[in-house]
Amino acid sequence: MTRIVVVGSLNADLVVRTERFPKPGETLQGSDLAILPGGKSANQAVAAGRLGGTVRLIGAVGDDGNGALLRDSVAAAGVETTHVAVREGVATGTAVITVDSAGENTIVISAGANGTLTPDDVPADAFEGAGVLGLCLEVSIDVVLAAARAARAAGVTVLTNLSPFGAVPQELLDLTDVLLVNEHEAVSLGEHGVRRSIVTRGGAGCTVHDGDDDPVSVDAVRVEPVDTTGCGDAFMGAVALRLAAGDSLVDAARFAVGVGAYAATKPGAQSSYPTASELESFLRA
Ligand code: RIB
Ligand code: NA
Repeated sequence: MTRIVVVGSLNADLVVRTERFPKPGETLQGSDLAILPGGKSANQAVAAGRLGGTVRLIGAVGDDGNGALLRDSVAAAGVETTHVAVREGVATGTAVITVDSAGENTIVISAGANGTLTPDDVPADAFEGAGVLGLCLEVSIDVVLAAARAARAAGVTVLTNLSPFGAVPQELLDLTDVLLVNEHEAVSLGEHGVRRSIVTRGGAGCTVHDGDDDPVSVDAVRVEPVDTTGCGDAFMGAVALRLAAGDSLVDAARFAVGVGAYAATKPGAQSSYPTASELESFLRA
């Protein structure tokens, strides 16, 4: 099977559930703290790996307990972790997350070891046998651009998620084959020139733009959300998996909405992602 390569972040998610989000200056009582494996790139890799994909993750963690938590979670999904560097004396990336009773979240990230990743951490042969590269913006833009250039040169499809959203260099858009954005990011971005894109609408499905074809709306799979943290990453990992397998973008998106919906029904990010058979029973129910 063609390999999926994901270059980017791994975070320990420090999660507390509250009835509602606090207002500025307000203190609220929350649930017990849960420390769960997350980080957008690690999440994408785990989503594709649990569903049966051949996945390599390139990133960095610290030499602390959270780093071990991340490496274990990613490896348990069958993801190749040879290129997940362990930085001495550096903290693993963290995300401070609140989840409300509707399953919505707020997230503040602290880069830690993710901020130490450089283009030199992406090995020259990283894209051998690869079909798709997954990127997001939780590591330095230099790393993102270097990976995108190398993947392009190797004929690998570059799938870019512009999250967390900020200034996006035109070169990244030029190197991107398939763009994944939510509806707010799509509005902020405006005209981008990427010919293939998916605009996600949370619980309302997504719209697929594939070249000159008319845009196609893909309906959501309806669920009672428990925790939507990492649903977008599950969606992206699933798109990467299906594109690597040769699906059309619309078929990949149809598959991915089911994976994102499944992830919303369980707590946490990676801890909520399905195997192929779990997904099948969920969609049959
Ligand atoms: O997209 C969800 C992810 O964003 C969390 O797992 C958190 O680590 C942040 O990277
Ligand atoms: Na979840």
